[in-house]
Amino acid sequence: MRVVKVGFLGFGNIGSGVYQVLRDNADLIEHRDGLRFEVKRMLVRDVNKNRKFMVGTKLTTDVADIAGDPEIEFVCEFMGGIHPAREYILEVLKAGKTVITANKQVLANCWPELQAAAQESGAGLYFEASVAGGIPIIRTMWDSIQANHIDSIMGIINGTTNYILTRMTEEGLSYEEVLESAQKLGLAEPDPTSDVEGYDAMYKLSILGSMGFHTRLPIDVIYHEGITKVTKEDIAYGKEMGYTLKLLAIGKKRGNEVEARVHPAFIPNTHPLASIRGAFNAVFMHGDAVGDLMLYGRGAGDLPTASAIISDLVYACHQDKHRYMTFKNQPFLDPGTTILEDWESEYYLHVKVVDKPGVLAKMTQIFADHEVSVASVFQKNTSAKEGSASVVFVTHKTRELAMKSVLKDLEAEADVLEIKNCIRVEEGEQDA
Ligand SMILES: NC(=O)c1ccc[n+]([C@@H]2O[C@H](COP(=O)([O-])OP(=O)(O)OC[C@H]3O[C@@H](n4cnc5c(N)ncnc54)[C@H](OP(=O)(O)O)[C@@H]3O)[C@@H](O)[C@H]2O)c1
Repeated sequence: MRVVKVGFLGFGNIGSGVYQVLRDNADLIEHRDGLRFEVKRMLVRDVNKNRKFMVGTKLTTDVADIAGDPEIEFVCEFMGGIHPAREYILEVLKAGKTVITANKQVLANCWPELQAAAQESGAGLYFEASVAGGIPIIRTMWDSIQANHIDSIMGIINGTTNYILTRMTEEGLSYEEVLESAQKLGLAEPDPTSDVEGYDAMYKLSILGSMGFHTRLPIDVIYHEGITKVTKEDIAYGKEMGYTLKLLAIGKKRGNEVEARVHPAFIPNTHPLASIRGAFNAVFMHGDAVGDLMLYGRGAGDLPTASAIISDLVYACHQDKHRYMTFKNQPFLDPGTTILEDWESEYYLHVKVVDKPGVLAKMTQIFADHEVSVASVFQKNTSAKEGSASVVFVTHKTRELAMKSVLKDLEAEADVLEIKNCIRVEEGEQDA
């Protein structure tokens, strides 16, 4: 049995979860892997704070107590944010200690620099918990489907937005109503921007896409759009057409062309991702050998995330020599890769128009002018008082830029009172 001394950078929600599982499942871990982990020091902001686990003098506010301790071999980072997490991780890596991080933001932003520091000192850098919490997606990509060309990744990788959209769909509530209740339940942050505007999913897609497509996808090449404009009417209209609305992180690769985007999307109710409810996450991928593959589980929470972190700890302990990403892990997009901005999709468009003859014809002419083919049109609510009507169009597959031109011309049309929403519809190809 090997005793392994560990340091923590952060001892909040996730840190306490890791501490708890290491303590409660210590015998199991020892029995299976011959390892016993001992958490020696924890870095926090405030040593006097009340905590789930009161660990006395193990707490410190000085990172040097961890980076400079020769007994500590492995350091787990769950502080969050970029600064000072980046600086502390670098310090620890430079001291030759392996880092296990749950922090997607620091990884997506600083990965090349962190990997270079790890390689230089021979330390490991592991990050299973940084994407989709307890779902073993990183190890699957690294160790289980490495023989595949991955051509498509579609993920529900933000639990907060999936929770909000699920309740809007199932209970007919507005975005604002569900957000407020999710905040009260602790399922959404007091400042929910990173989740609801798609940043969190963008960081995770940067990590997953880079691994899946074997080329670094920096966050600045990823299109992102959140769920704040989604209305209960849109969800209800989509439902009538057999669609479910999800915030999807989508990566596709054809040859050297890559699509990388995060946005709300309607998917058919028959798609496996449509059944992912509440705060659960799932990643649906396609590889040329394995075919369709979906991983599902809890994308957040102290214990699921602890499960992923401890899997990295054990994995790192078993490496004679640490492994690193073998694509060029650089801050910019590789010149051999092109980001496709004019991707193909179907579109759902909800507009409020003046309720009078000839308006529909004018609008369909605008679609025709940009060679966008309309698959169906529905008139929804009419308001005699306002003299307005709501019209929903669904297009056939078309190009993003053609659709943007349609939107621009519709905005300039006097009889179009408001473009309520434009949502992409992803049919999501599946193996037969
Ligand atoms: N929450 C989840 O379900 C989940 C899932 C997957 C990944 N993650 C990632 O895990 C990380 C941590 O999340 P969490 O929910 O555990 O956060 P948290 O509860 O806020 O804990 C953060 C910890 O870091 C410490 N800390 C923060 N800034 C510090 C600084 N400048 N110097 C020293 N210590 C500092 C805090 O110290 P004090 O205790 O003294 O305040 C606290 O112990 C984030 O990167 C998050 O994205 C979270």
